[in-house]
Amino acid sequence: MKQDGLGYIVRGKNGFLHILFYNDNIVRFAYSKDEEVPKSTVAVIAEPTGIDGFLEDDGVLKAGVFKVDVDRDSLAVKISDLYGSILSEDLMVSFQKTKIEKKKLWEHGIYGNGEKYSWLNQLGSKTINYNSDVLLHHKFHHPAVQEMHTAIPFFIGTCPGKAYGLFFDNSYRTTFDFAKSDPEIISFQADGGNLDYYFIYGLDLADVVKGYSLLTGTLPLPRRQILGYHQSRYSYQNQEELLAVAEGLRKHDLPCDFLYLDIHYMDAYKVFTVNKDGFKDFKEVLQKLKKMGFGVVVIINPGVKVEEGYRVFEQGKEKGYFVTKPSGEVYQGEVWPKPAAFPDYLRTEVRQWWGEFYRELLESGVEGIWNDMNEPSDFTRGSGTLPDDAVHRSDDGTEVPHAEVHNIYGLLQTRATREALEAIQPEKRSFVLTRAAFAGSQRYSALWTGDNSSLWEHMECSIPMILNLGLSGYSFVGADVGGFRGDCNGEMLARWTQLGAFIPFFRNHSEIGSARQEPWVFSAEVLEIVRKYICLRYQFLTYFYNLMKESANSGVPVARPLLYHYQDDLNTYHINDQFLLGEGLMVCPVVRPGIKNRMVYLPDGDWYDYWTGEKLSGGRYVIAEAPLDKLPLYVKAGTILPLNDSGLNKKTDEPIRKLTAHCYSGTDGYCRLYFDDGFSTKYRQGEYSELEIIMKKGLQGMRTEINVLRDGYPIPEIKLKIHDG
Ligand code: GLC
Repeated sequence: MKQDGLGYIVRGKNGFLHILFYNDNIVRFAYSKDEEVPKSTVAVIAEPTGIDGFLEDDGVLKAGVFKVDVDRDSLAVKISDLYGSILSEDLMVSFQKTKIEKKKLWEHGIYGNGEKYSWLNQLGSKTINYNSDVLLHHKFHHPAVQEMHTAIPFFIGTCPGKAYGLFFDNSYRTTFDFAKSDPEIISFQADGGNLDYYFIYGLDLADVVKGYSLLTGTLPLPRRQILGYHQSRYSYQNQEELLAVAEGLRKHDLPCDFLYLDIHYMDAYKVFTVNKDGFKDFKEVLQKLKKMGFGVVVIINPGVKVEEGYRVFEQGKEKGYFVTKPSGEVYQGEVWPKPAAFPDYLRTEVRQWWGEFYRELLESGVEGIWNDMNEPSDFTRGSGTLPDDAVHRSDDGTEVPHAEVHNIYGLLQTRATREALEAIQPEKRSFVLTRAAFAGSQRYSALWTGDNSSLWEHMECSIPMILNLGLSGYSFVGADVGGFRGDCNGEMLARWTQLGAFIPFFRNHSEIGSARQEPWVFSAEVLEIVRKYICLRYQFLTYFYNLMKESANSGVPVARPLLYHYQDDLNTYHINDQFLLGEGLMVCPVVRPGIKNRMVYLPDGDWYDYWTGEKLSGGRYVIAEAPLDKLPLYVKAGTILPLNDSGLNKKTDEPIRKLTAHCYSGTDGYCRLYFDDGFSTKYRQGEYSELEIIMKKGLQGMRTEINVLRDGYPIPEIKLKIHDG
């Protein structure tokens, strides 16, 4: 081993190993055939930093928190901490198979791993990371489906007191085996590309998630309004129907900020067109909705209809902007518009060209863009996507096979979208939603988990899916509330809305041909429950917004599994149906029909029943009452919850004028709050305020204090309310 630039290099029998550091806790192992450090994928935005390392006589490298020992022959790596305890040990490194096998060591659980239909803890399972339009192959999502819409080849191994993250920076189809085939081995493998991975060490999960976010980025602070409720359907087919939904929401006193236009708003599914039969007054309707407090989000898929005279197709073809066959001919697949060509978003020029088309939509008043079918989906082929040998071209003209671009195709599309939106409306925070994503996509878009069904099982599985996405750096996520495919019913909608109200992205969406599932279609009782929880969501808007800010700063998840804060408590390692929103609010959804009570695990400490104010001691299981109108919620002693006064604030874009900070006493508490206008980018120039609320035990009970830390935007009036059980 010898020093090489900022890092180290080792020559082995079959090639080279580069060891690079990104900070004291993050080390990269990149294998190559030659002496050049392999190129990272688009996921990584961090640069290696030089670090003071020390090569011992026996060839062991000491740097940061690590000791790294490399076998000179095979280039297998053993990583220990500075005290010598082993953190990771390779059993096999295969250049030929692009595969590494590691010894399963102390992991009690494996988490993260992007979007997976699985339980929270994935130890003992095997998965494939390959973006797929699931419904092309399966009737619905189920645990045997390994290839979901979004692949994030990153996982976390943990046990009490320590954790590591492993990010396999490879955009080909990858396979992870978490000690399934062999209980002693954890392995990862790719169909092509490089063996190039990052090992992130931390005392806890938070360190690891922050380290991963440092490598791949965080979400930009969203518009506050986007944290409200969204109503969608495939499709609101014409302007009358869209307006009727908007009126229905207002008539029933349902707060809602966004409505969606699915594929039928287009002319013959041609992207960047509007169907003039159904939406003859497109602009006026959007304006009218805006006055009613609704923003409209429109769908834009990658598949461009192959049709002579259609400008997007004609331009793309003429400029050579579409993905081609190896022969150079434009590749034609099939999506909603039937024959379709696929823009080659790998090139900057193509992304910019595509981005310009958004201008008209934005000028018409569109407030957000929904990028779908971007795995990319292709109906003509058994694989459901483009062939591996379809050709993309990089900025310097090099041909890159689809096999390498496949998993980042969705990311590249959302990048094109986001960059365009920001260039066209620089003063406004843009909103992009995607179905397919890769590591790093959180920088460009929110994500929804694709085509679920109106099944209780899908409501249940959405919880670990969303929590694992959060641990994979993706905070701004949600599942279709009420379920997309199949028929929802009143009870299910009530329960799913309760859950959705505490998930970062909150949208009711359903498939064409399925039963309607707007909040008022079932019964007065269901409507009332749905209204209650949507209103509750709006009361929690400042809380959510602050969690999003924290996530934008450092990548910490908004919705967190219990073990995120209670890693020393092994009881939390398998809890799939409870989660923490931030640190102090525990959400315990009901995910089965006919339930009136449910078991809840309260970790150590005191907890308050949010509804009754009763104080309960933790470190035990309790039975919570959960009639249909009740979602069990608990608040940890020491938490300060900032709640907006009215849930019926229909103008979410208006400044927040009043807040009540609910202080749950028992132990000292601290909360930092951030305020800005909620929609513009002025906060980047310093137009924001920050304050802290401190709660301390004093001789005469709890003492609270508010300190303004920065005064760059009007601070709402804050009332304090002490809860002491
Ligand atoms: C895909 C999307 C779904 C959308 C439909 C029609 O199935 O996942 O959300 O409604 O396409 O555009």
